Amino acid sequence: MNIKDAVVLVTGANRGLGQAFVDALLAAGARKVYAAARDPATITLAGVVPVKLDVTSAADIAGAVEACPDLTLLINNAGISRRSSFLAADGADAARAELETNFFGPLALSQGFAPVLKANGGGAIVNVLSVLSWLNLPSVATYSASKSAAWSLTNGLRGELRGQGTQVVGVHVGYMDTDMTKGLDAPKLSPKDVVAQVLAAVEAGQDEVLADELSRQVRQGLAAERGVYLGEPAAAR
Ligand SMILES: NC(=O)c1ccc[n+]([C@@H]2O[C@H](COP(=O)([O-])OP(=O)(O)OC[C@H]3O[C@@H](n4cnc5c(N)ncnc54)[C@H](OP(=O)(O)O)[C@@H]3O)[C@@H](O)[C@H]2O)c1
Repeated sequence: MNIKDAVVLVTGANRGLGQAFVDALLAAGARKVYAAARDPATITLAGVVPVKLDVTSAADIAGAVEACPDLTLLINNAGISRRSSFLAADGADAARAELETNFFGPLALSQGFAPVLKANGGGAIVNVLSVLSWLNLPSVATYSASKSAAWSLTNGLRGELRGQGTQVVGVHVGYMDTDMTKGLDAPKLSPKDVVAQVLAAVEAGQDEVLADELSRQVRQGLAAERGVYLGEPAAAR
């Protein structure tokens, strides 16, 4: 896929990584950019088509599919983290909310747009995942579970959409400098850097982006004798 010819919809386009996607797509001269947000009034950039889209709303998703019949690239970027552990009092509520946004949202959007992408020649879907698709951190345990589910969704969709020529790209990244990591003291990648890697991967026909050293190390650690997802052995705790 050539980004210059692409008609793109970005979810959660009003801030953070989503906004960085929109900036880069406009700079690259994409044919059309649908900038989707829960509140379209928060889309202030010139040169885009604002779309009202809460990814947990079936009505909004149906409206977006109708409003974007020329779509060739769907970027499932919107996401939430409630920073909850499984055993916290709100653990189950947090998990449900995160699954609704981070898993069921991209699932419903993929279902809605798959026929549109097919009609427009195949196109591509990008799912923004995380290094936490592979690891579970107690401070964000329920979020990690939602990103594991979204990773599996991404891999399943790749298989189901192969026949219609739709590329499916999973993006794994550690920490990025956005509102989601506000107050967190850790090295953070710039969203602009991540976006550049993702758009290059889409153009190169790749299936996966490992955007930072942390993601590359953890990915490698999955195959270690003691898989990295197992954490420290009990004797070392
Ligand atoms: N930041 C990181 O370190 C990091 C690392 C790995 C992966 N990620 C992933 O990267 C993606 C972008 O996150 P970010 O860092 O840019 O976070 P962010 O700054 O918190 O932005 C989240 C975006 O998602 C939107 N959103 C949340 N719930 C939504 C819903 N139900 N419907 C539509 N839009 C919704 C927000 O819109 P509102 O303004 O309406 O809330 C906002 O635009 C997410 O999938 C996140 O899980 C982030």
